[in-house]
Amino acid sequence: MERDALSLSTIDVPMAKSTLSFVCQNCGAAYNRWQGKCESCGEWNTLAEEDTTGSVPVSIRSKRKGRTFALESLSGKAQDAPRLSSGLSELDRVTGGGFVRGSVLLVGGDPGIGKSTLLTQATSLMARAGHRIVYISGEEAVAQVRLRAERLGLSDAPVQLAAETSVEDIVSTLSEGAVPRLIVIDSIQTMWTDTVESAPGTVTQVRASAQALIRFAKKTGAAIILVGHVTKDGQIAGPRVVEHMVDAVLSFEGEGSQQFRILRAVKNRFGPTDEIGVFEMTGLGLREVTNPSELFLSERDLGTPGTAVFAGIEGTRPVLVELQALVAPTSLGTPRRAVVGWDPSRLSMVLAVLEAHCGVKLSGHDVYLNVAGGLRIHEPAADLAAAAALVSSLVNAQLPTDAVYFGEISLSGVVRPVAQTPARLKEAAKLGFQRAVLPESARGEASGDAGLSLNAVNSLTTLVAEIAARGSRRGDQSAPAEKNATPARFRRGEG
Ligand code: TYD
Ligand code: MG
Repeated sequence: MERDALSLSTIDVPMAKSTLSFVCQNCGAAYNRWQGKCESCGEWNTLAEEDTTGSVPVSIRSKRKGRTFALESLSGKAQDAPRLSSGLSELDRVTGGGFVRGSVLLVGGDPGIGKSTLLTQATSLMARAGHRIVYISGEEAVAQVRLRAERLGLSDAPVQLAAETSVEDIVSTLSEGAVPRLIVIDSIQTMWTDTVESAPGTVTQVRASAQALIRFAKKTGAAIILVGHVTKDGQIAGPRVVEHMVDAVLSFEGEGSQQFRILRAVKNRFGPTDEIGVFEMTGLGLREVTNPSELFLSERDLGTPGTAVFAGIEGTRPVLVELQALVAPTSLGTPRRAVVGWDPSRLSMVLAVLEAHCGVKLSGHDVYLNVAGGLRIHEPAADLAAAAALVSSLVNAQLPTDAVYFGEISLSGVVRPVAQTPARLKEAAKLGFQRAVLPESARGEASGDAGLSLNAVNSLTTLVAEIAARGSRRGDQSAPAEKNATPARFRRGEG
């Protein structure tokens, strides 16, 4: 005690205590000492030493007297949230109708997926509509951003552009003149602020920079878009901590080899979270795709066993997409299970139900399942289509090309109803499909709809028997699976 008092008396200016801790670069959890694994998120080797000294020096913090503020009633005049349309209807669909004044939005995605392209297009359209729009690039030089705008034919748009990384400089520059309607920060990982000690790109820096920008947005009413890169497993690197601070998180996804891009709302305080926007990357930038089903079905491989069309719902919009399965005898002790675009545990469940209730033995087979077009499906309603594609591949029997499938499969093998049957059927009819395989219990809801012929199944066993019958009618069910069978063979088999 005495020693403390003595040492304190010798220091007349209280100093900010520098606190070094080990911060997980994935989730932001802080530890006193280094360890190999983050206990909070389970990631390995993500801890890095950072100076986590608070952004306000202790000397100021302790002397600052609390300011008084007015308390308000719940029934007060509701502040409406006026929205700014982006000029791209697919982007507006995902944000819930445009950017809300004073809101902060994080757009995440792999490097090279097209985030800067999307935002260059959107900001140009908004600036052309007469709004003050600012684009701050921390990754590219002004010339590079200009080059992209030129390629997109948007050089004439009055977007205010700068290549800057200091948050303080950005905030003071933007505090002058009219409040910008929208500010794009590309990307948040490149921003840094004087108020914290750690290096740019670290969790502490990213968090402090985001905090300063969010404060600016709330104070002035400008909307801010933060761009964030994601790691290969889909987490927004570093700024995962930012996800909790912002009003909305949009994720820009797509398979590298394909030109389709899907913008998905992961979190949205001002709109729905299950809505998707679909774009196509072309030589002239991103093109909006207003009818995704047509796009996803445009390269259908007709005449191949193992494919089934799923009538899905993404947000408020029905989307038809092809599921492709390949079931082949395995040469490995443990057969492979690989899935792209769908939940692997959902595939395991469907396989288990097929084994346990339908007598379909798959333990000696490798199983591959792929959602065509780079879409990622989250609905359990895809169970039935996945099962149909799997069995179709196993028995080497092509499914009818004019049929769509939807329905959830329970652990007991019962096909359960799913939401929005009429919307799914209407979309299928619009795209020229003739029949739908759907849950028995959804038949009532579907009656008189869309003019499709309905094949209602109440258990997976029924569906498996039907597909197996198609296979045996072709007479080669026991023959080794031949994946390159010609369409002529199928016609002979079916006739
Ligand atoms: P970019 O927007 O820079 O990606 P991000 O900001 O997410 O890192 O997009 C980069 C890719 O998009 C690049 O590989 C080139 C391609 N691209 C086109 O195909 N067409 C275009 O008109 C533009 C501008 C980019
Ligand atoms: Mg970029």
